[in-house]
Amino acid sequence: MPRHAYVNGRYVPHGEAQVHIEDRGYQFADGVYEVVPVFAGRLIDEEPHLDRLAYSLGELRIAWPMSRAALKLVLRELIRRNSLANGIVYLQVTRGVAPRDHRFPEHSRPALVITTRRARPISPAHLANGVPVVTLPDIRWRRCDIKSVSLLPNVLAKQQAVEAGAYESWLIDAEGCVTEGSSTNAWIVTKDGRLVTRDRSAAILSGITRQALLDLVEVEQLIVEERRFTLAEAKAAAEAFLTSSSSFVLPVTRIDGAPVGDGKPGRLTLKLRDTYISHMNHAAAAL
Ligand code: PDD
Repeated sequence: MPRHAYVNGRYVPHGEAQVHIEDRGYQFADGVYEVVPVFAGRLIDEEPHLDRLAYSLGELRIAWPMSRAALKLVLRELIRRNSLANGIVYLQVTRGVAPRDHRFPEHSRPALVITTRRARPISPAHLANGVPVVTLPDIRWRRCDIKSVSLLPNVLAKQQAVEAGAYESWLIDAEGCVTEGSSTNAWIVTKDGRLVTRDRSAAILSGITRQALLDLVEVEQLIVEERRFTLAEAKAAAEAFLTSSSSFVLPVTRIDGAPVGDGKPGRLTLKLRDTYISHMNHAAAAL
């Protein structure tokens, strides 16, 4: 069965899906996106993802392409048509099509594209050994809280990680603190067992996985600190890990080539990965 995409009101075979050459997403990166995990055929944490979409759209003054309720129906229909069990839904809203001009067009309609992708299983080696990250200066703009499709610095950072044999780049701000990864949030566990991740601000994307995990650990007797942490602190940490809608919770065992803790996935990290996967199982079963 061919995979389908949803493009501005129509379900079309993925290979034939097209948008106009003057879509402002294409010319100006004038648009936003969301990546929603799908587990056992169900959208996980759909409401917070749609809330974040609303926030991103609002910050850029792009109108909703359709009502939230209608969008939820389209997401489900695409998952059904593509028989998606585990993977992600990608949805992108741009300011629409208009003759190229930097200022907002007066009459464009927001353009909506939705695709799905099957999960690429995390390699067993990554899970068993954890993944390496390299660090790079954070050269992004000062509104990283908006999930904008303008991802060039993130793309360059990921490519540098790949070329260095790493899984991810952790981005370092002007004060020497870790902001986040190129497409993931960054976490450490201090030697005295405190869980630390950067506080929410315009310096990071407020990850839905990050927030879900913070909510999940609230019930446990853990000290959680949402604050800046330096690269030096990360390198001296007992454990480190990253979170995202596609990686879930993934141990980080090397930073710039140096082992984190004993160089093996941390005990708390693996427990939190299980906690998050149970959350997805429960969420899927409850829907
Ligand atoms: N990336 N930080 C950045 C810069 C991201 O792009 C992402 C998500 C995250 C994690 O957010 P969440 O937990 O909501 O997935 C943090 C997605 C997966 C992507 O661009 O493909």
